[in-house]
Amino acid sequence: DELEVGGHANFMHKEMLEQPASLRRMLSGRLDERFATARLDGLGLDPRELRTFKRVKAIGCGSAFYVGQLGATMIEDLARIPADAEAASEFRYRNPIIEPDTLYVAVSQSGETADTLFAVREIQRKGGRVVGLVNVVGSSIARECDGGIYLHAGPEISVCSTKALTHMAVGFALLALALGRVHDLSYAEGSRIVRGIKAIPDQVQQIVDGEARIADLAAGLSDAQSLFFIGRVRGYPVAREGAQKLKEISYQHAEAYQSSELKHGPLALISPEMPTVAIVPDDELLERNLGALHEVTARGGEVLAVTHEAVELAGLDGIQRIDVPRNEVELDPILLMIPLQLLAFHIATRLGRDIDRPRNLAKSVTVE
Ligand code: G6P
Repeated sequence: DELEVGGHANFMHKEMLEQPASLRRMLSGRLDERFATARLDGLGLDPRELRTFKRVKAIGCGSAFYVGQLGATMIEDLARIPADAEAASEFRYRNPIIEPDTLYVAVSQSGETADTLFAVREIQRKGGRVVGLVNVVGSSIARECDGGIYLHAGPEISVCSTKALTHMAVGFALLALALGRVHDLSYAEGSRIVRGIKAIPDQVQQIVDGEARIADLAAGLSDAQSLFFIGRVRGYPVAREGAQKLKEISYQHAEAYQSSELKHGPLALISPEMPTVAIVPDDELLERNLGALHEVTARGGEVLAVTHEAVELAGLDGIQRIDVPRNEVELDPILLMIPLQLLAFHIATRLGRDIDRPRNLAKSVTVE
């Protein structure tokens, strides 16, 4: 029945709504409360080997690249080792420097994306160690990597990826926890993250239960010519993925920007015709984020804030909000992504787009 659309209008809707159940399945057996860590046997790395990596680099294409960026922030937060992400399509063509003490992570739903697969081979040719964060079992990338974490999201039919991305983000949370626990993350801190990860499926359920309100907000954005998606640090990859999703299925133009960089140029574009979707977590950057929102609303820009209930938005004119449940600050970006899936979906639905098969796109690009 995973291949049937069931009572849903399309696969994208079905796949967004099945996330709580698919996440529970993914997490089953992977959290080790006794040692406050993640059990990732598929990596084929024991704690001592895991500890030898001084750096992590995620590679993937499209949304998988943006989730890689989100994953890198979780790894830096929890393991305190340098981590970043790069588009596999660029990486493979620029004669990258492969370091033996870097753990490379290939991120792919299909496991067949040519750019990602060739990047894996390039890393291995130069002696690097690459593990996969892949959904399709037995796919080319899964087979060729030196171990990995299967996402267990189940089949994803909609071209526009939703549940697989959430699973990738949770996969990175597990990896960040495991890397943290072989570095400096204490038992107590590890337990805090274990509890946070365990809470994710129920919290995703709460967000999808709020779909009707997101559909209402989508109505107000569906006639915009162009939108900004802004966020900073942990929120920036979330903004990038939100803008990507909207472009893919609604064909509306959207641009993701760091909130911190707005004042260095694009603020000139803000007007009542250019709405902004802002990622505003209740974290240590809140005051600065609110400052950026003041800059936008003062210029007549409409803002939709994806935020937490405790965040006070008083004094900002024309601002709407979607509240997501609080988790731990390091894990909050995973949940902040979910309303953006629903938002893109409802805008595209209002515009009458072909949700599961957007024009010009393929589910997986297996040619160069
Ligand atoms: C294609 C799809 C994107 C997807 C990307 C990576 O370009 O249109 O939605 O994010 O491939 O796919 P993968 O299967 O490697 O995650």
